[in-house]
Amino acid sequence: MERALPKHIAIIMDGNGRWAKKRLLPKKIGHKAGADALKKLLKKVEETEIEHITVYAFSTENWKREKEEIDDLMKLLKDYIQQYIKENEKSNIKIDTIGDLTVLDEDLQRDLAHLKEISSKKTGLSLHIALNYGGRDEIIRAVKNIVKDVNNNNLLIENIDENMFSSYLDTREYKDPELIVRTSGELRISNFLIWQAAYSEFYFSDKLWPDFTFEDLEQAINSYQKRERRFGGRLDS
Ligand code: FPP
Repeated sequence: MERALPKHIAIIMDGNGRWAKKRLLPKKIGHKAGADALKKLLKKVEETEIEHITVYAFSTENWKREKEEIDDLMKLLKDYIQQYIKENEKSNIKIDTIGDLTVLDEDLQRDLAHLKEISSKKTGLSLHIALNYGGRDEIIRAVKNIVKDVNNNNLLIENIDENMFSSYLDTREYKDPELIVRTSGELRISNFLIWQAAYSEFYFSDKLWPDFTFEDLEQAINSYQKRERRFGGRLDS
């Protein structure tokens, strides 16, 4: 028996820089092509039973890149969000973020708050954008909030278990990804959803992110569905 379709897929969109380099184009164009590839992919995903897509857009480590590239990426995100806000009637996608937004510039934080407000009325596919996100940072923020709640007598140490811990993470409102996809041939998790990936299946594609299509995602899903069959017997609900 084949596994059911994954309800939540997380994607490490890697390879924008190499895509641009191969074409002798500036990196910025590679990131723009990456954002366009995501838009195209989501249009198709919306037609499926997949409920959640989480994408790694900007990691806590990405601040180490050159200022120009950071500015370009932030501008791209702003444009993406503003376009969604402007054309929001056209889309039923719900967008929210994971990661620590407090250090982002105020304009971007305001746009993100507006975007979340609009999104709360949507009923379609959920897109979770990881922004200034790092798995270790997320865990540390969770631990700090747990300690605060224990100190304020709002939480008993005996009641801390895996479920309780998960409820302090940015992803508390939905289930962990069944499938994690990384493009561009790199075989690392790079601090992405490290707690949530405990039981996820991984799929690595050699394609650079701007070249990654819905057909490639279908291949990843097929691979995920077949893996269960190899070990046999268990039906997913
Ligand atoms: C990795 O490519 C990709 C990123 C650091 C950013 C991903 C961002 C986007 C796809 C666009 C913006 C996203 C949204 C949600 C609008 P890389 O630069 O590390 O590639 P390289 O390893 O080939 O240099």
